[in-house]
Amino acid sequence: MTDHYAVIGNPIAHSKSPQIHAQFAQQTGQRIDYQRLLAPLDGFADTVRRFIDSGGRGANVTVPFKLEAYALAEQRSERAQAAGAVNTLLFEAGRITGDNTDGVGLVRDISLNAGVMIKGKRVLLIGAGGAAQGVILPLLEQHPQSLTISNRTLSKADDLVRQFAHPALHTCAIDALSETYDIVINATSAGLSGDLPPLPGAIFNSASFAYDMLYAAQPTRFMQFAQRHGAVTRDGLGMLVEQAAESFYVWRGVRPDTAPVYKNLRAQV
Ligand code: ATR
Repeated sequence: MTDHYAVIGNPIAHSKSPQIHAQFAQQTGQRIDYQRLLAPLDGFADTVRRFIDSGGRGANVTVPFKLEAYALAEQRSERAQAAGAVNTLLFEAGRITGDNTDGVGLVRDISLNAGVMIKGKRVLLIGAGGAAQGVILPLLEQHPQSLTISNRTLSKADDLVRQFAHPALHTCAIDALSETYDIVINATSAGLSGDLPPLPGAIFNSASFAYDMLYAAQPTRFMQFAQRHGAVTRDGLGMLVEQAAESFYVWRGVRPDTAPVYKNLRAQV
């Protein structure tokens, strides 16, 4: 018996998830297949229901459907509720369950793969969109000394701080950033259009770790900027692999070894 999974998005042809999950399945001896499903922009729920009817056991959800997946889920994990978005669906016992593995993917990549402890650190999160919201709870669970959110539109960062209402959480306008941070995470989509948020170089020193949730063959503009100001940098390819591993664990109850999968993927990017 082969169990069926898919990643649903629009566009979807570029998705590396089938390749990642095929390697996880081979490594762990799990009998699954995992395909790409292109959903029409106005047809996400129909696509999910058809996939369930054809025997689908679970799905990853990517741009632009993570909010629709949240709405479609009949029950949601705590981390999905905190993220306000769903990237992992589980179809079991006639119910649709929504989860979100993005934040734990980021935390694992920083703490386990990069070896950077978050506990006790001063962390700066740049961005206040869906990508930023998805990582706030998992970051707070690591007990940073502080988590500061900065965003081009400051009111959106203020909204997130009000929503999470946690004593370690603060906002700061980008042009008011003046202190140095131990960990700086870029959760903006600025890099997708070759832009860089207007950050002061003084947020970095030689002990800073700068993480871009985007990834590319070459260091991103954010990473180059951070490196020029002395920081050690890492891009988001490891987060992609770790969020996939967490989804695999949610579905199959088995934790794959992410290191060889990351290595293969890095060689292809
Ligand atoms: P995502 O799901 O990727 O988070 P989003 O919800 O549209 O996408 O959020 C995009 C984030 O990137 C926002 O924080 C946005 O800032 P605004 O809230 O001010 O729009 C940020 N962003 C996008 N382009 C940017 C740019 N050129 N400079 C700075 N921030 C940018």
